[in-house]
Amino acid sequence: MRRLFPAPQDPSAAVDREWELTEIADAYAYPAEHADGGWLRANMVSSLDGAAHHGGRSKPLSGAADMRIFGVLRALADVVVVGAETVREEGYRPARQRAEFTGRRRAAGQTTVPAIAVVSASLHLDFSLPLFTEPAVPTLVVTGAKAPAHGLAAARTAGVEVIVAGDESGADPVRLKRALAERGHTRLLTEGGPRLLGQLAAAGVVDELCLATSPRYTVGTAPRLMSGPEIPEPRDLALTDLLEDSGFLFGRYRRG
Ligand SMILES: NC(=O)c1ccc[n+]([C@@H]2O[C@H](COP(=O)([O-])OP(=O)(O)OC[C@H]3O[C@@H](n4cnc5c(N)ncnc54)[C@H](OP(=O)(O)O)[C@@H]3O)[C@@H](O)[C@H]2O)c1
Repeated sequence: MRRLFPAPQDPSAAVDREWELTEIADAYAYPAEHADGGWLRANMVSSLDGAAHHGGRSKPLSGAADMRIFGVLRALADVVVVGAETVREEGYRPARQRAEFTGRRRAAGQTTVPAIAVVSASLHLDFSLPLFTEPAVPTLVVTGAKAPAHGLAAARTAGVEVIVAGDESGADPVRLKRALAERGHTRLLTEGGPRLLGQLAAAGVVDELCLATSPRYTVGTAPRLMSGPEIPEPRDLALTDLLEDSGFLFGRYRRG
């Protein structure tokens, strides 16, 4: 892996080499202002032609460096916010405890692993899956006040904490972020998918986008990273970092 931007002061730092996990973690540290209402980072991988998945999975777009960064970003987060369709499509499991990050997380006052927060309006979720039955830190479900009663009952029977963060069946992005931050989850990470990220981005609550551009194209009709109704005006993010590994570009963009 090598850094392309900002150009390293020391030219040897631009040399392509395997980075330690701690170096990646330092490069992706949450900014200090995360404490002020929470910092929501999105981490997504895209094909060259803008596809967010291939055959319903993001793995065909990914690679070794992307998976390493994916794991580090999880290890830095208090909570991973994910759309229900991604949970259903990708067979989401609880976050894995990693010895390399135990000390770092303890020092940062974090639980051993991040909690997973599944965002769902239908509550059409299989609460018997390990995601809900075996996590080291309880998995949360975020929904709206008009979510189906049978889904709420199923979640509560399974001992899953349900956070109501909206007046309709869905969660309101601003309330979702605030509700998680109020529970101490101020270092937030969303792993999409595109429909959830589209809503979070349209509502203006995404503080940072970590975008892995895969050196592959797929053609087809897969969605872009953010899908949903077009916003009235394009919004700018500022590029803060650009890394490269094996042809993958890892951009980091934040709100102006
Ligand atoms: N390229 C990447 O980095 C990446 C990352 C993640 C996923 N993916 C891919 O994306 C695909 C899935 O993405 P997707 O866009 O179809 O779905 P998604 O965003 O993962 O999930 C959509 C679902 O999330 C729930 N949801 C979204 N917004 C909500 C809100 N405001 N309130 C309550 N619930 C809300 C709804 O669940 P209910 O239906 O339960 O109401 C909705 O159907 C998969 O193929 C996956 O592989 C790619």
